[in-house]
Amino acid sequence: MEILHVGAECYPIAKVGGLADVIGALPKYQNNAEHNVSVAIPCYQTTFRLKNDFECIHTGKLKLGHFKFPYSVQKETSNKLGFELYLIEIPELFDRPNIYNYKDDIERFLSFQIAVLDWISERSLIPDIIHCHDHHTGLIPFMKKYCPKYEKLKNMPAIITIHNGIYQGVFTFNKLYYLPEFDLINIKELEWNNCINSLASAVKCADEITTVSTSYLNEINYSDNGLETLLQRVRHKSRGILNGIDLDIWDPENDPMLETNYSINTVNEGKQKNKEQLCSLFNMNPAKPLFSFIGRLFNEKGADLLPKVIVSALTAYKDNINFLILGYGDIEIENQLKQLREIYNYNYHVHIGYNEELAHKTYAGSDFILIPSRIEPCGLNQMYAMRYGTIPIVRRTGGLKDTITDFEDDGNGICHDQASVEDIYDTIDRAIHLYLNKDAIGTIRIKGMQTNHSWTNVSQEYLELYNLIIAKRHEN
Ligand code: GLC
Repeated sequence: MEILHVGAECYPIAKVGGLADVIGALPKYQNNAEHNVSVAIPCYQTTFRLKNDFECIHTGKLKLGHFKFPYSVQKETSNKLGFELYLIEIPELFDRPNIYNYKDDIERFLSFQIAVLDWISERSLIPDIIHCHDHHTGLIPFMKKYCPKYEKLKNMPAIITIHNGIYQGVFTFNKLYYLPEFDLINIKELEWNNCINSLASAVKCADEITTVSTSYLNEINYSDNGLETLLQRVRHKSRGILNGIDLDIWDPENDPMLETNYSINTVNEGKQKNKEQLCSLFNMNPAKPLFSFIGRLFNEKGADLLPKVIVSALTAYKDNINFLILGYGDIEIENQLKQLREIYNYNYHVHIGYNEELAHKTYAGSDFILIPSRIEPCGLNQMYAMRYGTIPIVRRTGGLKDTITDFEDDGNGICHDQASVEDIYDTIDRAIHLYLNKDAIGTIRIKGMQTNHSWTNVSQEYLELYNLIIAKRHEN
């Protein structure tokens, strides 16, 4: 099977969050003698682009309404990623350091999608399936289905995976002329709440929809994301498939980013060493339990609750507890977290920014990882944490609910129901009691490390789904 994944991020080329980890790993696990798997993402200004060899395999000029942008398709030549990587180079729109948050993001990602379709419709080999990820690629199913320009791609099945339904790629009908021509009778397939909504359009036009956990699929049918009634209507073609993690990259036994590697047999000493190394970076006392948070600092992730949680816990436990926060995002939350450093400087530290190596060191050196998300479609942090013998403290939502059970119910972590300071504080209190019971904490660590969240089985599930879609298309 010829499979093409299309998205905005892909680790290690361009990463903001978990989306990159998925697009950088799933294709690798699908790629084998039977399947040829490739990934197309925009070509941002990244060190990966500069430091690796590429071959230009296609050039063209894409049309976005009355604008024209030259583009090229750059194929990475070493194939060291385990799949074929194509960077879609549109210099005027993507030759910038960041992935998102430009005023012309709508124009940027729509151009990217048009370039991908232009390119593959000119290829002799058409993919057997195009797998779109999130709203940045949400208009592909519509365009290939309804734009005569892409007639050749009409029967190519498309699947959309929703990694995060909050972001939907919404814009007004003033920009309708950006899209290649189509019969206006089909305009309703683009529309939701009187706007063009890329994610809604994908949901309507794709052959199948997947979300990254079953609980998240149930939640988005009722939660307040604006698409719930639409998602209920398409339930018959939706399913939840829990993400996996890349066990080659996330492996405490062989992780080159750690100074001291460890396995399940050496976890207690190994983690203690990593904790000492991590604490020495931040001038913290490694004899105290270390609670960390790694991720984007947004309300969606419950990050706005952290400052109050930290103050409550440091007031109650004084010097007997450490907190470390890694992340960036909402300026207000960043500032509040930075200000706390003026009060607490030896048992609390915040690193604003994204640093993959520090994240690995933090998973290895922490005792507990806080994941108080209000919304968590899957969440990979709890899986990484478990792999490194670190105990996740999670709010029961989405993928967190599907992967973590409270230790008091014989589970693998600590859970709370509300995204509230009180509930999180309560879990910290329970965690500290657990920390003092070395046998109990050791058992939970081992349980986490033994959990298998490899992509191997998950990638099989996707392949079965592709086959099903292809078979259905043949029937019709
Ligand atoms: C998004 C979601 C996260 C998920 C990731 C990968 O970042 O917020 O929950 O794990 O995508 O699917």
